Amino acid sequence: MYVCVCKAVTDRQIREAAQGGARTLKDLRRELGVTRDCGRCASCAHDCLREVHGGSAKPGKLARQAA
Ligand code: FES
Repeated sequence: MYVCVCKAVTDRQIREAAQGGARTLKDLRRELGVTRDCGRCASCAHDCLREVHGGSAKPGKLARQAA
């Protein structure tokens, strides 16, 4: 499913990035471009990070604003 419509990034891509070492939304932004445009994907992208890393994924400012 698409998490970031603006950049056409799927939950699978986010999980793969997380498994490859991305731990924060900033990491995902740098690697995939998520949250770079409208930012509405921040909360969902963070949820995907959390699925991979458990509770240790850091939400960052955008996810906190979206919550
Ligand atoms: S949906 Fe991700 S930046 Fe717009």
